[in-house]
Amino acid sequence: MKIAVLNGSPKGEVSVTMQYVHFLQQRFPETEFALFDVAQKIKKLDKDDKSFQDVMTEIASADAVLWAFPLYFLLVCSQYKRFIELIYEKNVTSVFRGKPAACLTTSINFFDYTAHNYISAVCDDLGMNFFGSYSAEMNDLLKSRERQRLKAFGELFLKAIKEKTPGIRNYQPLKAPEVVFEAEAVKPVNVEGKKVLIVVDDLAVNANLKKMVERLRNTFSPVAELVQLKDIDIKGGCTGCCQCGFDNQCVYDGKDGFRDFFNEKIKTADILFVAGEIHDRYLSSLWKCFFDRSFFNGHTPFLKGKQIGFVISGPFGQIHNLREVFDATTKFQQAGLTGFVSDDLGSSSQINTALQTLALNSVLQSKAGYIPPPTFYQVAGAKLFRDVIYGRLRVVFQADHKYYKEHGMYNFPQKYYKWRVINNILVLLTKIPAIRREFIKRMKTEMIKPCANSLKKTE
Ligand SMILES: Cc1cc2nc3c(=O)[nH]c(=O)nc-3n(C[C@H](O)[C@H](O)[C@H](O)COP(=O)(O)O)c2cc1C
Repeated sequence: MKIAVLNGSPKGEVSVTMQYVHFLQQRFPETEFALFDVAQKIKKLDKDDKSFQDVMTEIASADAVLWAFPLYFLLVCSQYKRFIELIYEKNVTSVFRGKPAACLTTSINFFDYTAHNYISAVCDDLGMNFFGSYSAEMNDLLKSRERQRLKAFGELFLKAIKEKTPGIRNYQPLKAPEVVFEAEAVKPVNVEGKKVLIVVDDLAVNANLKKMVERLRNTFSPVAELVQLKDIDIKGGCTGCCQCGFDNQCVYDGKDGFRDFFNEKIKTADILFVAGEIHDRYLSSLWKCFFDRSFFNGHTPFLKGKQIGFVISGPFGQIHNLREVFDATTKFQQAGLTGFVSDDLGSSSQINTALQTLALNSVLQSKAGYIPPPTFYQVAGAKLFRDVIYGRLRVVFQADHKYYKEHGMYNFPQKYYKWRVINNILVLLTKIPAIRREFIKRMKTEMIKPCANSLKKTE
């Protein structure tokens, strides 16, 4: 049996994820695992059709496909994303149709499931028999229990391939919106001194997107600044080298224009709009490259305090996962979310109304300095990063460590000295049945008591 492993790490063979694949190779020596470094070699695959077709030939001869990749910004890296786009652009989807597929990722478990949802949906779109996803924390291979678990996943996958077990479809095919958007007269929204920036990957590719972006841009008074990513000198995707972890210096510094663009345009904007067209189940790989390359800022809220909105052309309303990715990204950045407007939300007139509201809300929220309270995404994400940066990743991410220390982000519960003492006493006392009964009786009123003081305050 032959499994084509599509390596989604820009690091190629020297990749954590590939060590998990080697583990499977060792445990199942009778199975051939053929590895293809499609993310690392993406420039060649993009330009040289023969190289791309050679990989397709190998996939065609395989019994199954393993999508093996590291998490990059809640998804796959931009190079892997581009590979998926090429499957469609080069019209080779039939190579994948009917083939069993599974997904294996390594990460620090930050939004691993959104990447899994993405690949699972891509497999459904390609008509593959999707078996399932395996999320390994990047150090799992060091633990005997986790090795056993991965072996069990491998056994189950191989059994499903041998027995030709049909996969269960998770995602319905996407239906492209049919509306032709026409801009209506705008009610000007004064920006009140706020800097408004609309970033789009490429305006030329989609008529609705172009008209929606122009409509939004002209709603602001004065009109918003517009930048197209295709005009920025971006030499390539994030290589995963993590050099930036030490002092936020990127290997591309001085070689392309990304850092200057990011610092001069993105970081100085008060209100930011992300505009693009749906490609497969995300925006374009160019947009993904933008997010991946922003990694030079580390795991810090580098868009903190901005208001961020999204203008999207395509079946956005059917891709809940994408909404979640952007919602989480915004919250994790401690930014305000002004809304999503896509051309599948209704008629042209309804889209006009939505764009008008988007513009108005962005200025109102920016003026009020309103950032919503953190939800699960930010609360859980902050704790996860706090622990890994404080712990085993501190040497690599020294710039993050400095930032976390300076901004009070090391808020470990171990430091709650007052509560540690109170808890110890109360836990002991509530072991006494009479006190426990009294405690339970008073619990509800005691819970709201601290609010009484705050309710008396006037601010
Ligand atoms: C640019 C970049 C973005 C990342 N984004 C995520 C993420 O969103 N979630 C996560 O859990 N880990 C994230 N990671 C961590 C990697 O997924 C993890 O280190 C992985 O094991 C690397 O695998 P590799 O050596 O095969 O490339 C990111 C790493 C980089 C370099």
